[in-house]
Amino acid sequence: MSNVHQPPPSFGPEIKAQFALESNLTFLNHGSFGALPLVVRQAQEAWRVRIESNPIEWIGRRNIETLMAVKKHLARFVGCQPNDLGFVTNASEGVNAVLRSLRFEAGDELLTCDHVYNAVRQAMKSRAQETGARVVEVPIALPVRDQDHAMNCILNAITPRTRLIVIDHITSPTALRFDVRKIIDAVKGTRVQVLVDGAHAPGALQLSLDTLGAHFYAANLHKWTMAPRGSAFVWVAPQFQKDIHPCIISHEFANGFTAEFDWQGTRDLSAWNTVPAALAWFEKLGSQRVLQHNHQLAAWAHQLLCEEFSFEPLSPLDGSMLSCMASMRLPNSLQAKFDKPEAFQKQLLDADHIEVPIIEWNQHWLLRVSAAIHNEPAHYERLVVALKKYLA
Ligand SMILES: Cc1ncc(COP(=O)(O)O)c(C=O)c1O
Repeated sequence: MSNVHQPPPSFGPEIKAQFALESNLTFLNHGSFGALPLVVRQAQEAWRVRIESNPIEWIGRRNIETLMAVKKHLARFVGCQPNDLGFVTNASEGVNAVLRSLRFEAGDELLTCDHVYNAVRQAMKSRAQETGARVVEVPIALPVRDQDHAMNCILNAITPRTRLIVIDHITSPTALRFDVRKIIDAVKGTRVQVLVDGAHAPGALQLSLDTLGAHFYAANLHKWTMAPRGSAFVWVAPQFQKDIHPCIISHEFANGFTAEFDWQGTRDLSAWNTVPAALAWFEKLGSQRVLQHNHQLAAWAHQLLCEEFSFEPLSPLDGSMLSCMASMRLPNSLQAKFDKPEAFQKQLLDADHIEVPIIEWNQHWLLRVSAAIHNEPAHYERLVVALKKYLA
């Protein structure tokens, strides 16, 4: 293997012990649902106990105060103002809140690309059906040469009918980091709005939402921030907050963005309230160190797999379009051996104790590896050994 990338020093057994992952499992799919460290699990349990000590006090009287404390810490982490954040339970809910709130007219175009997350694609289709708008999905062909090439595919598809662009900060099937700022800057001063799907971004990229300048940004905290599942947010630029409502309309309808998002009916508030503990742990590990480790490990694993199997890299091998995941196109011969990608994924789990997603995308099967703080080079080397059996 040439030496473009060295793997980073691993976080070591102490950090690995924070995760409840099965000891004989090679877990290369942090990207789907995350994995919760012990300190964060304990913090959430403490919140559950606190809430149960007097549900009226913590859900009824002090919810606004405790959520404000969460927003303040989260706002520092993602570079925005606390009151521009609304809590949702997952990125899908954030995307849906924006899509359902915006008014579209017949013939309006909602623009995205073929790397869009499928659930988001469906939400766009549903909203288009309701309003007579049209979803336009442009291809960004693989391999992607560079950011300009990728982002120009979107920009070249803008027409006078384009109302909204939905663009991933980090794509799910293809694991590419998109320079969404290029799109945001290009549409500034026009009627086109930009919703960034940042489901994978917090904890994977250094964020500064205030300066990014998007109209809307939806993100998960359970993936790379390692907060509990059920903690996610939607950020809305102040001038558009009056237009955006949560998916759940409750007592506070039309009382403003903050009031509406703060109360969406009775909910388990433990996940959101645990976010500061997750952020504190992340910051104690060293935010830059975590970001750098995961990125370097992903870039190294990408190169390792591409070189071992002569996979054509789908993005530059220098890792410049990766964050903490990398996807590779598997040879079509596998499709003759395994009926569906899920069958191959299950085979890797059952026979090789490797959890890694095999994703069908544009008729190809993609292998996507994640690189988290509980991962180390040996995990990808184990994947190489296993894949050799199936790719022989
Ligand atoms: C790019 C992208 N967008 C949206 C989502 C939806 O996230 P959730 O299922 O948590 O709503 C995901 C989930 O992995 C994703 O990868």
